[in-house]
Amino acid sequence: MNGSGVKITGVGHYAPEKVITNADLEKILDTSDEWITTRTGMKRRHVAGIDEATSDLALVAARAALDDAGVDPHDIDCFIVATVTPDFPFPATACIVASKLGAENKAAFDIEIACSGFIYGLTVAASLVRSGVYKRILLIGAETLTKIVNRKDRATAILFGDGAGAVVLEASAQDSFLSSELGSDGSKPELLRVAAGGSRYALDPLRYDAGEQYIYMEGREVFKFAVTKMIDATERALEKARLTHADLDLLIPHQANKRIIDAAAKYLEMPSDKVLVNIHEYGNTSAASIPIALSEAVRSGRVKNGDVIVFVGFGGGLSWGAVTWKWAA
Ligand code: COA
Repeated sequence: MNGSGVKITGVGHYAPEKVITNADLEKILDTSDEWITTRTGMKRRHVAGIDEATSDLALVAARAALDDAGVDPHDIDCFIVATVTPDFPFPATACIVASKLGAENKAAFDIEIACSGFIYGLTVAASLVRSGVYKRILLIGAETLTKIVNRKDRATAILFGDGAGAVVLEASAQDSFLSSELGSDGSKPELLRVAAGGSRYALDPLRYDAGEQYIYMEGREVFKFAVTKMIDATERALEKARLTHADLDLLIPHQANKRIIDAAAKYLEMPSDKVLVNIHEYGNTSAASIPIALSEAVRSGRVKNGDVIVFVGFGGGLSWGAVTWKWAA
């Protein structure tokens, strides 16, 4: 197997048409536009319809990315979907997406590491290409989190939205991948999880009535962890790439809370024009948030050839990660 460089040759994203605004939430929950805006930076979130599953969102984003790259689905060697809201507990959503794209008999698998999914996925996909195992990979972050949110819990119902972002990675003489820093701490899964429905706690009537099929989060604890890990992972990834904050052209963080992003950016001395924020439009879309932000940035011309980008995320696990990437047009 011959190693090579890797670059992203196509990006795409999709969010369902239906939108829930803060004003809509005011009507069904004890909350306010003012509270949500000042505490999170969120204004709107897109919501999948009852018949729209994660693979449906993934498919639209995937087609856009393939189109952008000028690559036929049959020429993709491996399909990866990062998601915590798969169509089914199994089979993997990536298998469904590959088949819907008409690509038969190709490698396909999901990555389930919550909001860190795209960062882990990018590390795995880039490594598979750089080591020569595959020439072209389609990596998608896709979520329908509103389907696992308790609409009566104001602490979480306001935060999450649905969407998908996709990238095509291809072998290249240039190498965009500069470094990766991944981490996890599974000692307190209860800080952020869906408790029931797995092999630890069956979704029996008691747990169902207690709402354990929905996302539960200790918001304040996760907030502190998020700021620390965003900073730490970014610094370590830069260090591994032998770079400093000063070399960074763009920070593309997971969109969980504008205050988390601002606190990390301030510590990292990143001016706001170098930090990508679209949380007002989408809320937290977990594994989809970074590829959606990247796709918007590339399509609007905000990403230039040679730009050094750090993608950084954190989430359930707990988990975190950052990738340093030199953009190649
Ligand atoms: N509207 C109005 N009030 C709300 C509310 C809402 N939607 N949600 C919570 N509150 C109330 C609380 O009940 C609490 O009231 P009290 O002081 O009377 O007890 C008060 O607001 C403050 O709650 P707190 O949880 O301390 O708020 P916060 O400033 O920490 O913001 C989060 C809450 C969830 C926005 C914030 O903790 C957060 O973003 N955490 C990290 C989330 C995250 O990153 N998750 C995803 C990881 S991928």
